Amino acid sequence: MNDYLLILGRDPDLSLLELVSYFSARNISFKIKDKSQAAVLIALPELDFQKTITDLGGIVKIARVIQDLDNEVLYAGKSNKIKYAVSVYSDTDTSDLKEYLKGRLREEKLKITYKRSSRTEQFLMPNDVVRHRLLDEGFELVVYGGIIARTIAVFNPYEYEKRDKERPLQRTLHMISIRLAKILINMVGAKEGDTILDPFSGYGVLLQEAMLMGINVIGVDNSRECADATKKNLEWTAKQFGTRVSFKAIHADSKQVSRFVRQADFAVTEPYMGPLLPKIPMKDEALKIVAQLNPLYRGVLRELSRVVKGNIAFIVPRFRLYSGERVKIPFERMLQEAGFRVVSIMPEIKMPLIYSATDSKIEREIWVFRKA
Ligand SMILES: C[S@@+](CC[C@H](N)C(=O)[O-])C[C@H]1O[C@@H](n2cnc3c(N)ncnc32)[C@H](O)[C@@H]1O
Repeated sequence: MNDYLLILGRDPDLSLLELVSYFSARNISFKIKDKSQAAVLIALPELDFQKTITDLGGIVKIARVIQDLDNEVLYAGKSNKIKYAVSVYSDTDTSDLKEYLKGRLREEKLKITYKRSSRTEQFLMPNDVVRHRLLDEGFELVVYGGIIARTIAVFNPYEYEKRDKERPLQRTLHMISIRLAKILINMVGAKEGDTILDPFSGYGVLLQEAMLMGINVIGVDNSRECADATKKNLEWTAKQFGTRVSFKAIHADSKQVSRFVRQADFAVTEPYMGPLLPKIPMKDEALKIVAQLNPLYRGVLRELSRVVKGNIAFIVPRFRLYSGERVKIPFERMLQEAGFRVVSIMPEIKMPLIYSATDSKIEREIWVFRKA
């Protein structure tokens, strides 16, 4: 086992639950030694870290902790020109380290270019690391408290962008982000060979991500247009990426899903969450939406309890009013009524987790649960 620093994305609690579920599902032993809102210090066995970072939605960098900087080979490439950077994720003065690096690299007769963040932060964003080709043509050191680590894998935002652009059927609204899709898939503990059901499959974005992780998928949507779009996007995914998983898109009402689907290992979904809100709703409007969603969610939960064996991740909207008050769906009660219990992935992080998309008027509660 070696120590690694995992740099967390925008929602640290979600990222933590994601990685704990991800390693547990694969029987990968790990030990969290320290954690903050920025990073996790974790002992892990040797892994394919490029695959790990591609699978995880909530981790932006993986860095291996350096035990002895003097004896660490900083650059082993052929060129004598290198680029490097120091990214700081804590309140640490790194001027000595930077001087040390400059001196040492010059001593090694390298022509060096130091890369700074393009923003005000003390650290490079993943796209900076990718754009500057730092992992191929130099290196990045990550500093966290007294720890110095070397970046070995970085999240590549350009791949997400490409996938979002190339998907044959597109819509701008109601599509889950790739990042959140991955986090949810990992939070239920799904892995290669398992089957995931999305009872509100929309354009199939979430299921596409599952397929890319080697997971079989079943999508259900009650709109003919969406069921067709799911089918086309999943066919394209299979062809484009050569995935060898099974995929199915069913046009049906999720309140009757057990008529069409016999069994799934897991379910992950961002359901229908009411009409699109151009602005923060008035209380009576929010109450009306909740009254409309209650029977839908109740019906779907009843059906999921018949079909799904393992964990379920379900997004539930809640409506913030101008006064700051929240209008909520009584989801915990619904879970009990349908015979589910909330899953505690880490006791110190309580469900539901709250996720606020930057461009959305609603807040999302994230629930993970399974049959009681
Ligand atoms: C927020 S979108 C899902 C986004 C999707 N997860 C994705 O990745 O693109 C919600 C979807 O639920 C579908 N829907 C609404 N009511 C439904 C029902 N009763 N049964 C099945 N699908 C339903 C809508 O047609 C819509 O496509």
